[in-house]
Amino acid sequence: MTPGLALRPLTAADEREAWRAHDELAPEGFDFLLDGRRDDWDGYLAHLAAEQAGVDLPPGRVPATFLVADVGGVLVGRVSVRHELNEALARVGGHIGYAVRPAYRRRGYATEMLRRSLAVARSVGVERALVTCDDDNVASARTIERCGGVLQDLVPVDDGPPKRRYRVGTSDS
Ligand SMILES: CC(C)(COP(=O)(O)OP(=O)(O)OC[C@H]1O[C@@H](n2cnc3c(N)ncnc32)[C@H](O)[C@@H]1OP(=O)(O)O)[C@@H](O)C(=O)NCCC(=O)NCCS
Repeated sequence: MTPGLALRPLTAADEREAWRAHDELAPEGFDFLLDGRRDDWDGYLAHLAAEQAGVDLPPGRVPATFLVADVGGVLVGRVSVRHELNEALARVGGHIGYAVRPAYRRRGYATEMLRRSLAVARSVGVERALVTCDDDNVASARTIERCGGVLQDLVPVDDGPPKRRYRVGTSDS
């Protein structure tokens, strides 16, 4: 357990800090905000709510829950929990994506975020989550293994390292 960490939805008050987190992760090639527009925060929050409810999904999109990890009022990371898998998610993306802001790493936050995300996945009917990471992403692989992930296989990816695909039971979280 990591005391004080809560997973919660983004709110109107998070705009500045969330974009700051987004800009911090960009040099690493990760998005903190997914599909966000800088000029329309309210619209982005509405988009996230609709995506979670599965309303007006574009073709190929699946319902997903986007949550931020809040520690004492500081946004330290974010997770995206896909409620089901499409073809691309089943191959490389998996059910759960996560990122921790560089300044807050190596404090156990990712492990706690994934653990809590597994409970979110369970609440939408996922029993065995697919969680993936690049073969050379030691921190992410360790995070998954700490949450009970069992390596299923590695799949080749066109433009990068192979993906490690883990299965993680959601009922132990
Ligand atoms: C991967 C990531 C989420 C890990 O976040 P974190 O909060 O630092 O992870 P934790 O503190 O929970 O550490 C999890 C485990 O990884 C280990 N770890 C963390 N960073 C590490 C590193 N740079 N090298 C080796 N091991 C590392 C920790 O020691 C811990 O293992 P332990 O419990 O056996 O000690 C973070 O580095 C990140 O956001 N990276 C960029 C985005 C990303 O890769 N997302 C995952 C996509 S699949």
